[in-house]
Amino acid sequence: MPAESVNILAIESSCDDTAAAVLCDGKIRANIIAGQEVHRMYGGVIPELAGRAHQSNILPVVQQALAQAGLAANELSAIAFTRGPGLMGSLLVGAGFAKGLAIALNKPLIGIDHLHAHVSAVFIEHDPIPKPMLCLLVSGGHTQLIWVDEHHNMELIGSTLDDAAGEALDKAAKMLGLPYPGGPFIDRLSREGRPDAHTFSTARLPDYQFSFSGMKTSLLYFLKAQVPGFAEQYLPDICASFQEQVVQYLLKVTRKAIVNLKPASIALSGGVSANSRLRETFVEMGAEFGLPTCIPSFEYCTDNAAMIAMAGYLAYQRKDFCGLDVMPYARQPSGDGAFL
Ligand SMILES: Nc1ncnc2c1ncn2[C@@H]1O[C@H](COP(=O)(O)OP(=O)(O)OP(=O)(O)O)[C@@H](O)[C@H]1O
Ligand SMILES: [Mg+2]
Repeated sequence: MPAESVNILAIESSCDDTAAAVLCDGKIRANIIAGQEVHRMYGGVIPELAGRAHQSNILPVVQQALAQAGLAANELSAIAFTRGPGLMGSLLVGAGFAKGLAIALNKPLIGIDHLHAHVSAVFIEHDPIPKPMLCLLVSGGHTQLIWVDEHHNMELIGSTLDDAAGEALDKAAKMLGLPYPGGPFIDRLSREGRPDAHTFSTARLPDYQFSFSGMKTSLLYFLKAQVPGFAEQYLPDICASFQEQVVQYLLKVTRKAIVNLKPASIALSGGVSANSRLRETFVEMGAEFGLPTCIPSFEYCTDNAAMIAMAGYLAYQRKDFCGLDVMPYARQPSGDGAFL
């Protein structure tokens, strides 16, 4: 008798994207995202508005994902959702919807950590991957180096002491008068600028720690010292120089971990992994060390439900289900090198 297929519906609602995906036997069959334009005019995410937008988007997004995958709800094997970290009001909408669906369909519920899922995004297109794998996770809220022994066995070995890389790029973009989120604008403008036009200070920290606040302050003082109109006139050069400094700093700390810990492969994940310069230089670094190098396609870099579905599929195989009393968490529970 052929083995029954495993169909996972995944829901992601940790910040300002309402997303649903369907994964059938390890392959993504639908990956739907509804963004929230409402935040753009405020230059950042407004939690109350995000929660309300999730509430109106979630049903159509889930319906669209099921329709695109050609599945009826009763054909699902399990419902996976993002447990945290993220905005509590946003997480509660996804968690409540997933619980309701799990009860109605009498299917198992799988709570997924958002950061674990950003790493799992790598497995969508690049598995089997030689392990241990070293993953650089660079997103809007986190900058971490993660040691991956197995799909579910991940250890945090380094992180930022202050701003995340994405946050630093977004704040730099704001100083330069660019729209929110500014990371993609810096990426685009940098292509016409000189990466060696200006230098900004970078932190030197022990182990595999990162810090971006000094670099950001250095840009602020640099801009303050210029004559009016300078930033507008030399925007591509400033963007290219700041971006280059962020990228080289990320690579420097990652390189230190590769030399010391000798992983069997390296990977890049999270929203900032959509950055063209980081992707290019990360691949060059992998080649330099002769290591298999994995970077997800663009649609799996920034927030999406396909990565939740992938992590959910792996959890389903381990029968790692949660009870209906499961609660979301705004911050990842901390522990000694723990990574969910
Ligand atoms: N091409 C790009 N170049 C640089 N940064 C980018 C690019 N595309 C997206 N980003 C950045 O990625 C970040 C968003 O990533 P992501 O959606 O993973 O973050 P988040 O979910 O808000 O944070 P976290 O995952 O830490 O909770 C933003 O800071 C955005 O500026
Ligand atoms: Mg994210």
